[in-house]
Amino acid sequence: MSKKRKIVITTALPYANGPIHLGHLVEHTMVDFWTRFQRMRGHECLFLCADDTHGTPIMLNAKKEGITPEQLIERSRTEHLADFAGFGIEHDHYGSTHSASNQRIANMIFEALDKNGHIETKTLKQAYCEHDKMFLPDRFIKGACPKCGAVDQYGDGCEVCGAVYATQDLKNPHCSLCKNTPVNKDSQHLFVKLQGFRPFLKDWVANHTSAEIAKKLDEWLEGDLQSWCISRDAPYFGFEIPGHPGKYFYVWFDAPVGYLAALDDWAQKRGLTYQSYWNDPEAERYHCIGKDIVYHHSLFWPSMLKAAGLATPNEILVHGMLQVNGAKMSKSRGTFVLAETFRKHLDPVYFRYYMGCKLSSTIDDIDLSFEDFVARVNSDLIGKITNVASRGAQMLQKMNVGIGTLSAEGRKLVSEAQALEAEIAKHYEARDFAKAVVLIRSIADEANKYFDAHEPWKLVKQDIPATREVLTGILNLFRIMAVYIKPILPSYVERVEKLFQEGPYTWASAQQTLENHALAPFEHLLKRIEMPSIEAILNETKEILASYQQKAAPQPGGEAALGLAPTIGIEDFQKLDLRVVKIIDVREVPGAAKLLQLTLDLGHGVTRNVFSGIKATYRPEDLIGKMTVMVANLAPRKMKFGVSEGMVLASGDGEKLAVLFPDKNAEPGQRIS
Ligand code: 2FM
Ligand code: ZN
Repeated sequence: MSKKRKIVITTALPYANGPIHLGHLVEHTMVDFWTRFQRMRGHECLFLCADDTHGTPIMLNAKKEGITPEQLIERSRTEHLADFAGFGIEHDHYGSTHSASNQRIANMIFEALDKNGHIETKTLKQAYCEHDKMFLPDRFIKGACPKCGAVDQYGDGCEVCGAVYATQDLKNPHCSLCKNTPVNKDSQHLFVKLQGFRPFLKDWVANHTSAEIAKKLDEWLEGDLQSWCISRDAPYFGFEIPGHPGKYFYVWFDAPVGYLAALDDWAQKRGLTYQSYWNDPEAERYHCIGKDIVYHHSLFWPSMLKAAGLATPNEILVHGMLQVNGAKMSKSRGTFVLAETFRKHLDPVYFRYYMGCKLSSTIDDIDLSFEDFVARVNSDLIGKITNVASRGAQMLQKMNVGIGTLSAEGRKLVSEAQALEAEIAKHYEARDFAKAVVLIRSIADEANKYFDAHEPWKLVKQDIPATREVLTGILNLFRIMAVYIKPILPSYVERVEKLFQEGPYTWASAQQTLENHALAPFEHLLKRIEMPSIEAILNETKEILASYQQKAAPQPGGEAALGLAPTIGIEDFQKLDLRVVKIIDVREVPGAAKLLQLTLDLGHGVTRNVFSGIKATYRPEDLIGKMTVMVANLAPRKMKFGVSEGMVLASGDGEKLAVLFPDKNAEPGQRIS
């Protein structure tokens, strides 16, 4: 065997602020497959992860629930661990960024940055809520878009017209917690001067990221690498920065440190230190992440490590994002499927198999189409791979014999399957799991052909020894497939090991041939997926999402909490010309995430073109033919995608708007008064 490798691999740390969903599981299965493959080959491969526990949202959510942030993150941890275990994800250590080890290492890295002149202090003017006594992160400030006037937009950009702006430019800004108007207040902050790392980063990026990612990073590196603000003001759930009372590390500063802290926790239990492992010149270090967090991992993190004299990662492994049924996982489409919901209705082994069929080393998005998912599992994993083995094993048992000897033909097929080992291993190593699965399935095709050609169900009536030879061939082929697919389907293969009364399989087990060997009594390996299970997953997902929306409804009581606009006279109201209109056409707007383009019929042959930010709630077919209400005398506004001639009335929090539908007796053109 080649030299024993010493590998550390991590997945991005899930926020303790929410449950594990299928998006997390794409990354975790990917790394789990790879780790299990390395271990089967005899290497040491540590799979590390942790919960990402700090930040304002966790602090506020805990407050809303009347519990401490520590209680909230503890509860999340229990839930996260149960989900990962349910999906067969085996971390060597699952830590927490709210741990003594993380604080110690984060402090050490900060002090090293400071000592080496990489930290600067600047004064920032930021929105501050006098009522909640806190600086407001962008996501906690809402107001009207300075460009199109759409209300209830976040501080960083308008979801209706797509404008990007600074929080200070929002009109009528208000604190999303108490609805009061924030004031601007100065505060001193700590920054990492990224510019100083530019030469190092240029070199590092070129050698440690894929060509595709390096290209994107180069654009950033050629730009004006702005200093990175790493501090936040109290109140903040996190670690106070040494020497800076009242200032806390920004969550993204101590999050990646969580990788080292997890290693430290693991190492300490074994009388080792994280440095002895991480800095070992022989060790390999990989971070697997989604393409949305490349900046943090390829610019900030290597700079932090470099400043602290720690080894930098060998490679940042970047994958695409999960799509469900061809579109981004979405709460409004009801496709934001939680790990817990999935495993309640279906054995996660199916998800793992499907990921095996889909995952590659590219950054292309990964589509989980439920129809394709069911088809692949039922026709390949059950129909091709499992059935032939079940039939073979059951026939042998009926004949009251075990595995016998191989025929010449069977021996040839077995050695061909064994010869695929290097190619399959190459694909696993490169994280091209889909290619590995194609090769493994090709063995199933050969086994099925062999089975069909010899018709053992007929042969058994004439020639028992010949039948046994065929079934021995089939079961040997199946056993080899099981060895190859074990990193993807460990629990399934455990049942195979039990059937063959051997194991645990290592990668080398595929090179053995099984002859004259007794089988354990046959137990079913896996059933087909039935459609009701999929329906149950999707229905439950919709129910969960609906309950979130109820919870997200405004909390504080009273008129102040409602944030009512100043009183107007009837004459102001009468200026508005509100009309019933019929929606006669609805189109998607290319490039606009939130908008639909509506053609509205006001009656008398008058139509209006209106852009409305309601795509998260409706598909075109939900709206066409329905009546709604519009502001018909609003001056036309030029938007990024065209001119909007009016506004449709809708309610909601900016995320999920519901259009007003008038009584069914309303007619186009009728005035609302
Ligand atoms: O994007 C996220 O979900 C972050 N919690 C990932 C952190 S990864 C690492 F830096 F800790
Ligand atoms: Zn407030």
